[in-house]
Amino acid sequence: MPKITIQDFLKKKAEKQKITMITAYDYPFAKIVDEAGIDGIIVGDSVGMVVQGLENTLHVTMDEMIYHTKIVSRAAQNAMVIGDLPFMSYQTSIEDCIKNAGRFLKEAGATAVKIEGSAEVAGHIRALSKSDIPVMAHIGLTPQSIHRMGGYKVQGKTEESAKRLLEEAHVAEDAGAFSLLLEAIPMGLAKKITEELSIPTIGIGAGPHCDGQVLVLHDVIGLFDRFLPKFAKRYTNLKDEALRAIKAYREEIEKGIFPSDEQSFK
Ligand code: KIV
Repeated sequence: MPKITIQDFLKKKAEKQKITMITAYDYPFAKIVDEAGIDGIIVGDSVGMVVQGLENTLHVTMDEMIYHTKIVSRAAQNAMVIGDLPFMSYQTSIEDCIKNAGRFLKEAGATAVKIEGSAEVAGHIRALSKSDIPVMAHIGLTPQSIHRMGGYKVQGKTEESAKRLLEEAHVAEDAGAFSLLLEAIPMGLAKKITEELSIPTIGIGAGPHCDGQVLVLHDVIGLFDRFLPKFAKRYTNLKDEALRAIKAYREEIEKGIFPSDEQSFK
């Protein structure tokens, strides 16, 4: 199967086929995701929370994102890899934005980048697409704005904020974004945005009407146990499975069962 392209995303929207996406941060899981036939992998700055054990995503650095994106790209034969621009890698200037986004394609093998925001970064989105760096914009709950938003809260619930998000969606499309991520917004609003835009919408906590869906891998496989957002679904519990296996290993060492003859050399 050839590598999924931006054109495949647009074609899927046109043909009303759902786009499947998930996050990944390392080689073994990116390989599993790729084998599962997922269309796109976002190497999200959520790595800060689900891998690095941080409280939020703000501390993740550009070099860390490059490291993770590079090893995910190595594993992804078919899935499109999208690198997530971390906090302060683009807010400082359009020039910084282009330099850092370019690193995802040049050093880390990504096909595209994701940027949080729309209207406030319209110039950045325009400059990225002019530089041949495909960009996914991200509106609604944008975790890098946690302090301004006062926590991880559903956005667009009032008439006024819904109107603003609809406008922002159009700004992202007009500025040249190839797709738009909608996080934690009412499903009716996500439906309206999806119907009005010609670029695909990818939802996370935005209901079933988006052109595609994304979730954080560690929520899906039960490896992040601090909390499970209402919009996430746990399909298995790898933490329990790993705990069971590692406890069994410990007990076998303590009882002298492991290693047995089978694991020993004569
Ligand atoms: O950082 C992240 O994992 C995200 C998801 C919404 C894809 O931004």
